[in-house]
Amino acid sequence: MPSENATFNSAVAKNLVHRPRRLRRTATLRRMLQENVLTVDDLIYPMFIMEGEGQKVEITSMPGCYRYTLDLLLSEIAEVYRLGISAIALFPVIPENLKDDTASESFNPDGLVQRTVKAIKQMLPEILVITDVALDPFTSHGHDGIVDENGVILNDPTVEVLVKMAVSQAQAGVDVVAPSDMMDGRVGAIRHKLDELGFTDVRILAYSAKYASAYYGPFRDALDSAPKFGDKKTYQMDPANAKEAIKEIALDIAEGADIVMVKPALAYLDIICQVKAYANLPVAAYNVSGEYAMIKAAAQNGWIDEKKVILETLLSMKRAGADLILTYFAKEVALMLVK
Ligand code: PBG
Repeated sequence: MPSENATFNSAVAKNLVHRPRRLRRTATLRRMLQENVLTVDDLIYPMFIMEGEGQKVEITSMPGCYRYTLDLLLSEIAEVYRLGISAIALFPVIPENLKDDTASESFNPDGLVQRTVKAIKQMLPEILVITDVALDPFTSHGHDGIVDENGVILNDPTVEVLVKMAVSQAQAGVDVVAPSDMMDGRVGAIRHKLDELGFTDVRILAYSAKYASAYYGPFRDALDSAPKFGDKKTYQMDPANAKEAIKEIALDIAEGADIVMVKPALAYLDIICQVKAYANLPVAAYNVSGEYAMIKAAAQNGWIDEKKVILETLLSMKRAGADLILTYFAKEVALMLVK
């Protein structure tokens, strides 16, 4: 209001040429000048699939997230697609009796993931289906690799299994394979084999800078996939490292990744920012289970405004440079944004 300035006669006011607040004064201006926007097109919805029929089971540490049997998963997918979500990422809950030391179930052409991909593509060919390429849901020990008698995770034998898994997913009709294991050379090996078999259009979303993070706890509850011994520090990255993220990104780009990913997202916004500046291809960020659980827990206690915190958090990932965000909040956000 002019009256406020007219009566305020200090030297500061007279000399103040730059008043950034001028542009924040009205809602219209704020909206027009927003540098970053979150839309449903940015979102990928991770979903959990289990064997059986007619069941959905809530994940205790991830309220609002469920393991679905295929029939119910299909109805849920139809619903989220109607809300505007264009892509889902599938994670399987594998029964204990099908797990073994070498993850042989992972490339079963009739396995849970392969059957699910076929059913989704049959029901709704337009939705983008992304499958996880990693051994951990399928191994009895819970690691993302083949383990030798000394507990060492073997790189190259693991890559061989990852390639078979990616091929079986491509044969089932998946749109995007997403290696999340952090073995060396897996992107190149998968690209090479897919091309050789004629799957040149199957894209690779590479979990390139994936950190050995404590934020994955609730996800491991969801899949019953926590490692039975040791930790994942010999393959996932040290949270202290940033330059190493660029090295991993560079390698995955050279090996043929179509999209690179940083994971987790919130504690690694600086990495997303650096990766975006470095890479000339799309960057994805994974807003992981622990990040989801923290917001849910605080909201359930009435300590934060859940909707506002969700939108602010995801927007921060966009601002940092993420083109795509994998988030368990996708459905809630879609509901908020269509309103
Ligand atoms: C495993 C995998 C993990 C997640 C996605 N794929 C867990 C891990 O590396 O132990 C975590 C996702 C989340 O926490 O939301 N290959």
